[in-house]
Amino acid sequence: MKGVILAGGTGSRLHPLTRITNKHLLPVYDKPMIFYPIETLVSAGIDEIMVVTGGNHAGEFLPLLGNGAEFGLRRLQFSYQAHAGGIAEALGLCESFVDGDKVVVMLGDNIVGHGIAPYVKHFMDQRQGGRLLLKEMEDPSHLRHLGVPIFGKDDRLTYIREKPETPPSPYAVIGIYMYDPSVFEVVRTLKPSGRGELEITDVNNAYVDRGLMEYDIIDGFWGDAGESIDVYYSVIDYVRQFGANKLALAALTV
Ligand code: DAU
Repeated sequence: MKGVILAGGTGSRLHPLTRITNKHLLPVYDKPMIFYPIETLVSAGIDEIMVVTGGNHAGEFLPLLGNGAEFGLRRLQFSYQAHAGGIAEALGLCESFVDGDKVVVMLGDNIVGHGIAPYVKHFMDQRQGGRLLLKEMEDPSHLRHLGVPIFGKDDRLTYIREKPETPPSPYAVIGIYMYDPSVFEVVRTLKPSGRGELEITDVNNAYVDRGLMEYDIIDGFWGDAGESIDVYYSVIDYVRQFGANKLALAALTV
């Protein structure tokens, strides 16, 4: 199993902070933001990771993360996304690194309270397809900034709507995605969305259409530290009080 962390993009929602650095290098309590997704993947047993970044501060990741040994990584590689062409475009840069394995993709601004090892185990046991992690949101106003799933018969996923005005369910698709190696074929079929990006939600809907997308509903805290300046500070407050990537809670299999 390989790991990919996406740490490109423009970070425009955290301007002006992100005019002087990459969003994923900003502090979250006592560590740079990028440390958290690395620790999430390592604690789930993944020891080969590719970090995709971009922009003018990409060079700062190398002295910060080094060869990854400090995190327990056997292999740490980097790729450079020339323009912020979308999450799926950034993932497409990792095809030769993933090299026919399964892959867990994590957005570099996502932070979880508890580890994801049980869900990764579910995916390891899954013969093919993809797996999403969902989080029930207490405050539905967040859902207008996120991917939101729609469920059909037997609670199967029927569609994921990106940033809906009226959320069709109380769940967010969080930025941790698991795919079989066919994901790179899917990425090649994508067309840019209205905002000019290759959308990860289109990748996920391609798996949903083929009846090959499973999910788990996660326990505990989840935050997208890049959602807004207020959410960034609420994530910092949470991490300062309770920590992150704590021992995994029992997984709720659906
Ligand atoms: O955080 C979860 C949400 O992430 C999901 O619910 C949405 O379905 C998904 O589309 C995504 O939404 P965002 O609007 O939050 O994505 P954003 O453009 O902020 O990018 C998230 C991360 O992906 C960010 O940390 C940097 C990375 N990224 C983004 C873009 C656009 C890249 O590496 N390259 C890119 O071109």
